Amino acid sequence: MPDLDRVVREIAEEMRARADRGDVATYIPELARVDPGCFGIAVVGGDGEVAVGGDADMPFSIQSVSKVFTLTLALGKIGNLLWKRVGREPSGSPFNSIVQLENEHGIPRNPFINAGAIAVTDVILSGHQPREALGEILRFMRFLSEDPSISIDEVVAASEQRTGFRNRALANYMKSFGVLENPVDYTLGVYFHHCAITMSCRQLAMAGRFLAHNGRNPSTGFSVVSPERARRINAIMLTCGHYDGSGEFAYRVGLPGKSGVGGGILAVAPGRASIAVWSPGLDASGNSHLGRIALEELTRRLGWSIFG
Ligand code: DON
Repeated sequence: MPDLDRVVREIAEEMRARADRGDVATYIPELARVDPGCFGIAVVGGDGEVAVGGDADMPFSIQSVSKVFTLTLALGKIGNLLWKRVGREPSGSPFNSIVQLENEHGIPRNPFINAGAIAVTDVILSGHQPREALGEILRFMRFLSEDPSISIDEVVAASEQRTGFRNRALANYMKSFGVLENPVDYTLGVYFHHCAITMSCRQLAMAGRFLAHNGRNPSTGFSVVSPERARRINAIMLTCGHYDGSGEFAYRVGLPGKSGVGGGILAVAPGRASIAVWSPGLDASGNSHLGRIALEELTRRLGWSIFG
């Protein structure tokens, strides 16, 4: 697709030149070391073509983008029973907010805020040792992206393990309501480690393909989830994927998307492409500043917004 190639290259050049880059996350000390000048983008279309720009092959910490894949695994394991443990409404609150949990009796608003993602991780962990659960998540990422080299950055995981006091508070609070089945330290250990998976934009866009193509890998035809489940995961990404910035993301970009504090965003253009962008500087809601702008430009220039 010559048009796509050109647009992706142009956007990468424009983003590289911009001075407004947001602020790199510092609350996980290891993430503060990443160069804010980086920018990458990868778009994988239905017939296997890949358009890349900037640092598309540089690995970064996917952080909360991993929550899309843990949600997929947990739904695969217990199906709709998951919705007894976690809601699916936008929170309108920051990703690490504590107040809402008390009002809602320890049931997190959705699977993408930290509390919800910790509850989802707990579902995956049940019946397994932490190492096995983590192995399952990692194998899933390698399978989806068709890349066995994907791994966990142990230094980032240890950095969050040392400093994740707020997540510890959220997890203990949920445990007091019986929302978590496993020892809090085990669940958090798996959660911190899956957030510390490192992937490049190219690998992440490959992993997201099933969401853009009715639950199937478009190149092999292999079904990952049912069309209905893919549609519903996309709906949750659209409404909750950017926390209290989800409305703004839908307004500007018009695609389901999931952000991470490492500066990555996975976006889904249904029927067209899976897209990953990465720029480590964040906006006030903890979402990639230039990543969002790049996606806004991409959907505007290609007419890819789901809203027409
Ligand atoms: O739990 C945390 O705070 C991080 N491991 C992930 C948070 C995150 O990526 C929020 N997204 N923008």
